[in-house]
Amino acid sequence: MLDGGDLLLKGGRVFIDDGLAPADVLVREGCITQIGRDLTAGSLPVLQLDGLTVLPGVVDSQVHFREPGLEHKEDLASGSRAALAGGVTSFLEMPNTRPPTVSAEALEDKLRRARGRSWCDHAFFVGASVENAEDLGELERLPGCAGVKIFMGSSTGSLLVAEDADLRRVLRSGSRRAAVHAEDEERLRALREAHPEAAHPSWHPRLRDEESAARAVTRLLDLSAETGRPVHVLHVGSAREMKLLAPLRAEPRVTVEVTPQHLLLEAPACYEELGSLAQMNPPIREAGHRRALWQGLHSGLVACLGSDHAPHTLAEKEKEYPASPSGMPGVETMLPLMLDQVRHGSLGLGQLVRLLCSAPAEIYRIRRKGRIAVGCDGDFAVVDLNRKWTPRGRELRSRAGWTPFEGRELQGRVVYTILRGNVCYRRGEFLGRPAGRALEFDLD
Ligand code: DOR
Repeated sequence: MLDGGDLLLKGGRVFIDDGLAPADVLVREGCITQIGRDLTAGSLPVLQLDGLTVLPGVVDSQVHFREPGLEHKEDLASGSRAALAGGVTSFLEMPNTRPPTVSAEALEDKLRRARGRSWCDHAFFVGASVENAEDLGELERLPGCAGVKIFMGSSTGSLLVAEDADLRRVLRSGSRRAAVHAEDEERLRALREAHPEAAHPSWHPRLRDEESAARAVTRLLDLSAETGRPVHVLHVGSAREMKLLAPLRAEPRVTVEVTPQHLLLEAPACYEELGSLAQMNPPIREAGHRRALWQGLHSGLVACLGSDHAPHTLAEKEKEYPASPSGMPGVETMLPLMLDQVRHGSLGLGQLVRLLCSAPAEIYRIRRKGRIAVGCDGDFAVVDLNRKWTPRGRELRSRAGWTPFEGRELQGRVVYTILRGNVCYRRGEFLGRPAGRALEFDLD
């Protein structure tokens, strides 16, 4: 399969601007060149899409694909196959691998590993650390770099910038939007020490409580205002954070992400039913928090969704809490879960496309992605909005082999995923070879 394909998508209902319309889309050498009615292809390949809906390829701006060092959980090949099966054509991958991505060499290593093995276009975050703070301004401008990721509270892996003085150094070094995991390390430590008796995952929202998240977000907002540095607050999971962030809704310096699992799972039931499979950082919380996230989504405060695909094996998850690792797979289920929410009337298809496709591309300033428009890459998730199916962990592509949404009946399924005019996924089958390329960004 060539780098950029030629293809005429015919007969589908296509998401253009902010709505669906019957249209054909012509892709030449990987790029959308024409959108209209009754287009003809000459000798080009035609994909007939009657009854199907053509969305932009999903841009998943938060995945952990675990390579190098933790390939027993996932690698770039398995993770990107799962992505493609979920309609994802571009991903931004997190730096908490082993070793962590904290240098130009580590970034180059990931880019080299992705070449010929990643099924999607991709870029990698560089992790901020106390040691590399002054280098980040240079590192974030390297080709294939998605920007800087900051862990204010420790999670999977060793990356951590806990103190304000170091955070200030990190935020002053460079100018691209920084992605931030906002939990307050000091408070997390104090809660762990105060509760040695915590021996079940239902403790998780108490050991990483709302106050931990609120303190970190408050500190982050102050530091972002002081330094002028744009920040993207990842996986916001509580009502207090939403309240703190609400006044910044119209302020482009601060953007907000939520995950499908925080929108769709709820404590205490999730811990009773799923045990440590529901354990992630920041935690899934009670109904009131979930409601606040949905309100944030509808008010426009939530700019985008990311899957936070964070696979661990079932054997690892079986360890007794708190030794059980935090995180759950989600890259393959994000789009179908949210399509199902569209069917339920919880959000509109236009909102879904904004949250999963165009907004992540805009937030991170990714070139030519996230929209179906002339001049953009020919990346599409072609879905059947009526198709019912049930996710089963053993059938999903992630090496994790499980999903917190096991057995949930969904309506809406990915039928084809198309990357730069190449049909790479068709009804459960992968076609051609992994042809993902490094994403390009607009830099100042
Ligand atoms: O639950 C989580 N798992 N949260 C994170 O921040 C990291 C992730 C992982 O890499 O496992």
